[in-house]
Amino acid sequence: MGRLDGKVAIITGATSGMGRDTAYVFAEEGAKVMITGRNEARAKEVVEKIKSSGGEASYVIADMADRQSLDKIIDETVEKYGTVDILFNNAGLLSTSSSMDISLEEWDKAMQVNLTSALILSQKVAPIMKKKGKGCIINTGSIAGTSARWGAVAYCTSKHALNGLTKALARELGPEIRVNAILPGAIVTAMLDSVGGEDAVAGMKEMSPLKRVGQGREIGTAALFFATDDSSFVTGQLLRVDGGVDC
Ligand SMILES: NC(=O)c1ccc[n+]([C@@H]2O[C@H](COP(=O)([O-])OP(=O)(O)OC[C@H]3O[C@@H](n4cnc5c(N)ncnc54)[C@H](OP(=O)(O)O)[C@@H]3O)[C@@H](O)[C@H]2O)c1
Repeated sequence: MGRLDGKVAIITGATSGMGRDTAYVFAEEGAKVMITGRNEARAKEVVEKIKSSGGEASYVIADMADRQSLDKIIDETVEKYGTVDILFNNAGLLSTSSSMDISLEEWDKAMQVNLTSALILSQKVAPIMKKKGKGCIINTGSIAGTSARWGAVAYCTSKHALNGLTKALARELGPEIRVNAILPGAIVTAMLDSVGGEDAVAGMKEMSPLKRVGQGREIGTAALFFATDDSSFVTGQLLRVDGGVDC
């Protein structure tokens, strides 16, 4: 028996990286998983892998910066699976401009994808979860949401703001809905590849008492904790999953 048997979970940004690994973890635990992203070939691969292991999954192609796409995610999930029990707002983009250089266009896009989409999807699932009397929202922040990184002003700002959104939603959506965030450190994904070569990754390993970077599944199992009753008295929390780095 799986710990998410009978549950319906939406995971945004699950065509790669930690969203994809979380989709595998949730499906192994019995959830019906709706994954989202823009890349249809990768979405199909994730769904096929889950189905070939005996799980249940579907995908919605959606751009998190597009309002209609966000409506489509919830509408198609309800049409396919009848409800939503878990929303994992995980999609994110890395913006690497500094405060003096960033264009307003880049700033707005980062806010839409990393922050506003989480608000809009939460607004749409909350009535469904409230009506059921139970639900869970998880946001993917970052350790760059607790201290600034040079040259990533929109990323850092959006992730700091996501912490505030997590706490505000937790306060406003209880008692039926619990809302928490995972703040990953360096996790092996395409995003990590894009920020540094071997030297950067070696530096990140050195900063961790565990002397390594994390794996996507280690975010998936943290998300599983928030998604199950193992965390039934936990809401409004920001959980660092970062190998113990102190920055
Ligand atoms: N990796 C790390 O070290 C690290 C550390 C801290 C926080 N994070 C956070 O972890 C989350 C997942 O990132 P990851 O590391 O797993 O990176 P990733 O492998 O690059 O995955 C990013 C996911 O987000 C989706 N996405 C990006 N922009 C999108 C858009 N405009 N519309 C729809 N989907 C979009 C991508 O899907 P498509 O390409 O199919 O659109 C992909 O599925 C992000 O919120 C990121 O900020 C990562």
